[in-house]
Amino acid sequence: MAKQSITFILLLLFVLLYRTSAGSVYNVIQLGAKPDGQTDSTKAFLSAWSGACGSASPAMIYVPRGRYLLKQATFGGNCKNSAITIRIDGILVAPSDYRVLGNADTWLMFQGVNGVTLNGGTLDGRGTALWACKATGKNCPDGATTLTFVNSKNIVINGLSSINSQMFHIVINGCQNVFMGGVMITASGDSPNTDGIHVQLSTGVTIMSTGIKTGDDCISIGPGTTNLWIENVACGPGHGISIGSLAKDLNEQGVQNVTVKTVIFTGTQNGVRIKSWGRPSNGFVRKVLYRDVLMKNVQNPIVIDQNYCPRNESCPGQVSGVKISDITYKGIHGTSATAVAIKFDCSRTNPCRGIRLEDVKLTYPNQPAKSSCTNVDGSAYGLVEPSSCL
Ligand SMILES: *[C@@H]1O[C@H](CO)[C@@H](O)[C@H](O)[C@H]1NC(C)=O
Ligand SMILES: *[C@@H]1O[C@H](CO)[C@@H](O)[C@H](O)[C@H]1NC(C)=O
Repeated sequence: MAKQSITFILLLLFVLLYRTSAGSVYNVIQLGAKPDGQTDSTKAFLSAWSGACGSASPAMIYVPRGRYLLKQATFGGNCKNSAITIRIDGILVAPSDYRVLGNADTWLMFQGVNGVTLNGGTLDGRGTALWACKATGKNCPDGATTLTFVNSKNIVINGLSSINSQMFHIVINGCQNVFMGGVMITASGDSPNTDGIHVQLSTGVTIMSTGIKTGDDCISIGPGTTNLWIENVACGPGHGISIGSLAKDLNEQGVQNVTVKTVIFTGTQNGVRIKSWGRPSNGFVRKVLYRDVLMKNVQNPIVIDQNYCPRNESCPGQVSGVKISDITYKGIHGTSATAVAIKFDCSRTNPCRGIRLEDVKLTYPNQPAKSSCTNVDGSAYGLVEPSSCL
């Protein structure tokens, strides 16, 4: 009996030891980070990363409570690891002087990584002074995107908050299989270029249960985005969920298979928008489903605009080469803040095809709402109000 218990205890100890060594934890404070919001902790974070990245077994980077000042940091390298969890209980803050990151393009960037999970945390880009500079329009730098994933795969971003980004909050570029859930994005409604989540050249991106209040697009979808799923998102203030701007370049990858489901827009400039420059391009948008969308006082609830050309830059004939087809709007309800609730302004040489409206009811206070169609082909099913111009 006694022999058996000793064997059992030894076995238990062995299992416990094995588990701890298999799951190494890199605590940024033990590596020299200071949770005082003042001391530059970039080096400690990078050394936690190189530890986790260099280890072949699952690893965790742990950021305890407190504020950590970080300068530009790129987390990359050919990691041995494909299971790194970064658990953030604290707040990461950008330098208070926006000129430090002003021309850096990115603040926190993950490059060429596989199997990274970000759990919790707040990222504070401290963008307000830069926005104020831009409002007066004098020699202001562009600013940095708060969080970027580039050329990466199998990424999870869970319960993260981003506040007051200088430019975009989150960019997913050249990635495969990205899940974002419970993300909270906040910036002032008049902050310039603070897109919430931008996705491009990426496949298999899912954005779930996310709240976005910002000064530009809540979600912007660039060329080369396929198999994108957006569900249970609240947007506003902001410029809506936008595919585009496309046709910026002649050679562009298309956007295909996008689902936007159970979304609420509150007081936004647009609801669901597809936008392309009036320029030659070989790009396309096909197979998009918008369903169960609630519009609350939205300026342009449903809009396709293929005539975008600010400052008349290189838009010969103002004709877009982007081919838009197979777009379904189903169960779109609520109020428009302007008379034109549905607007399809498509390309003269590439009319929109296969546009489908079903169970749409958008009202404009005290007056009938209108729909407007240019170069568009499609059909309406069931109740559609304002009556469809298709
Ligand atoms: C479309 O994308 C979804 C994910 O958003 C995916 O599950 C589905 O398989 C894709 N459909 C096709 C035909 O690729
Ligand atoms: C843009 O160009 C078109 C055609 O060249 C011209 O008719 C129009 O006035 C221009 N608009 C602006 C704002 O410059």
